Amino acid sequence: MTKRIIPISSGKGGVGKTSFAINLALCLSKFGKTILVDLDTGTSSIRNVIGAPIRRDLYHFYKKGANLDECITSLPMILDPERAFSNFGFIASPLHMINSIANLDQNDRNKMIDAVNGLKADFVILDLRAGLDPLVTDFLPHSNTGILVFTPNHPAATLAASDIVKAALFRKVREVFHVGSPVYDYFSRGAVSPERINEMIDIAEDVYEHEIANLDAFIERMREETNDHPVVQMISDMVEFFRVYYVLNRFDSVESSFDTAIKPFVENISDNISPRLNISNLGWIMESKRYHQCNMDSVPYILQHHAKMNANIPSETEAPKSKKKIDRDLEELYALTGLRKEKPTKRPKKVAKKSPTEDALISQLNAIEAMYKTKKKENEFENFEYIISCIRYLFESKRLADFGDTRLFKKGELVPLLLRKRMGNTNTML
Ligand SMILES: Nc1ncnc2c1ncn2[C@@H]1O[C@H](COP(=O)(O)OP(=O)(O)OP(=O)(O)O)[C@@H](O)[C@H]1O
Ligand SMILES: [Mg+2]
Repeated sequence: MTKRIIPISSGKGGVGKTSFAINLALCLSKFGKTILVDLDTGTSSIRNVIGAPIRRDLYHFYKKGANLDECITSLPMILDPERAFSNFGFIASPLHMINSIANLDQNDRNKMIDAVNGLKADFVILDLRAGLDPLVTDFLPHSNTGILVFTPNHPAATLAASDIVKAALFRKVREVFHVGSPVYDYFSRGAVSPERINEMIDIAEDVYEHEIANLDAFIERMREETNDHPVVQMISDMVEFFRVYYVLNRFDSVESSFDTAIKPFVENISDNISPRLNISNLGWIMESKRYHQCNMDSVPYILQHHAKMNANIPSETEAPKSKKKIDRDLEELYALTGLRKEKPTKRPKKVAKKSPTEDALISQLNAIEAMYKTKKKENEFENFEYIISCIRYLFESKRLADFGDTRLFKKGELVPLLLRKRMGNTNTML
């Protein structure tokens, strides 16, 4: 199995990233060796929610010369008496706030990138911190968002989540034209200076500047100013093939999720980046006192649920459907949520050809309504089951770059690789 690194981010704090990252990692460990890394290095949140004794953490990695894999903590017998989660391990951030670890500089971030790339695992889940600084953006995949978590009735969190998408894409565009990149050198000799191009990127990213409204407008302007240089098509394809994945946490209803979370999210992306972006809903976690209580007890929900199932206490699940029927239902949902590219077998309810933003909104609405139809009665565990089924579907059916990353890239590493991949040889493009 190819290793996948999947960051969990939200932009805003307190929306449920850590709870989601922990429970997701526990679920994924059923399918392969999974390591959860606490990259919210200032708040030591994972160690507060998993009540396990920790021998080494990121303090030992940064201050005592330990290798990252020596800082992995496994679940103790008390949390996992049957060793049902022996494929799961986590790397905690330090017990107390240590400024240099809470605010890693570029060297230390690069050290972490190398170490995460070196971890021997099938899945590496990164719990990122709130905000949009390099401690978040350096760890995002290059062709997709990983998983964004946001929550209905929290407008600032929705805006912050769409800003993550923007930051991820602009970071990539900036790298192409960054001082020292082969593209920068090439344009230094041409008609449009790289300084001018970087100025245009600034204007496109700045929401207060309307001259170049978004990334699409930047691409259009670049086409005109560079006489349709192949590098511009490369930028356009970055947008075309970029994938956005989100999970709604504290789901309560379709109406409030759509009106207060999905709609503003999609509109922000359309207005400030591009309406062409491919956005997929990977499911929701319901608003749940029980889920919250598990965090308070320092025994993650999935562990408690597992223990409960093993104790043969009847769970709230309905009678199981036949496998064939489940597969058909899921395929249908994957089509509606944009995970499956082929046309859905049933026509979506609302077919309309309107503006690209309206089309994107309609498809998101159709997706969540279809999910609700089949999943409204599902409990927290089944919420995770569905999300895992989507993720496994993405692993199996898509290009590696479509979901997560197989490795993280340090500044300057990606562009030469992109150029080589695209043209076989940098010189043919430049
Ligand atoms: N689906 C849910 N239902 C009820 N409570 C939830 C749910 N998800 C998270 N919570 C609660 O919300 C609080 C914040 O969750 P969590 O710590 O996972 O968020 P976070 O995004 O990681 O926050 P931070 O940005 O501070 O790291 C916790 O008390 C958690 O128990
Ligand atoms: Mg957190």
